[in-house]
Amino acid sequence: MEFTNKAALVTGAASGIGRAVAETLAKRGARVVLADYNLEGAQEAATAILESGGSADAVMLDVTDPEAAENAVRKTLDTYGQLDLAVNNAGISGTSAPIGEYPVDEWRRVLATNLDGVFYCLRAELRVMSAGAAVVNMASILGQVGFAGASAYVAAKHGVVGLTQNAALEYAAQGIRVNAVGPGFIETPLISQVDAELLVPLHPQGRLGRSEEVAELVAFLLSDRASFVNGSYHAVDGGYLSR
Ligand code: NAI
Repeated sequence: MEFTNKAALVTGAASGIGRAVAETLAKRGARVVLADYNLEGAQEAATAILESGGSADAVMLDVTDPEAAENAVRKTLDTYGQLDLAVNNAGISGTSAPIGEYPVDEWRRVLATNLDGVFYCLRAELRVMSAGAAVVNMASILGQVGFAGASAYVAAKHGVVGLTQNAALEYAAQGIRVNAVGPGFIETPLISQVDAELLVPLHPQGRLGRSEEVAELVAFLLSDRASFVNGSYHAVDGGYLSR
């Protein structure tokens, strides 16, 4: 199995894409720490991995807190002795409103989670990683184009793409790769407020994506099969950005 003897940290692993990523990595041999501010959800997901024969542990992590990011990395090192793979995935959608009406506190909440959170985790992870390690940051199609009403989310995800490029530049010489994944709309609780009928036609494939389809791309980028893939944005969007 391609991730045997690798230790992974996945944020936002209690639900949706993060949970699918944790399960996929564990199935391929990784020992996974599932981090989330929904600790109960992360524990439940870790238990499911253990029950299917994998290695997993859970940790409480609010990505808006830089100390908590350090703690999650420390917990991975304490549990598994190393950190080889990291997926910075925790995120929220935020309120929908035009910029003129966008509440300032909501702007700060979305940026704090979706951009600051990725920075805090990256900062803690890259410091302890060594050659052969790899990171995936969860961006979005909205890290490449706009979406009316979602200015905070769009700004944060564009920031994640830029931060990914910078991290790749700074750590390539140490043999650490950092890439971004940009899903189209994926059936998870994150988009439960949005009418799926409105979103489906935006995807040329005529459907929304599944978390497992995102996890497959993440696993590839983390693997040695992607050994020369670095600093780039990778879409998994059913053709959304080709319209
Ligand atoms: P989800 O709502 O199913 O899962 C998000 C997870 O992140 C939850 O377990 C939640 O508890 C956790 N989380 C939220 N804020 C947190 C914080 N401050 N600290 C720690 N954990 C926190 O959502 P989904 O869809 O799985 O989203 C995962 C990532 O994928 C997000 O970054 C999202 O922006 C991105 N994404 C999702 C898309 C979709 O259509 N579902 C499309 C493009 C990107």
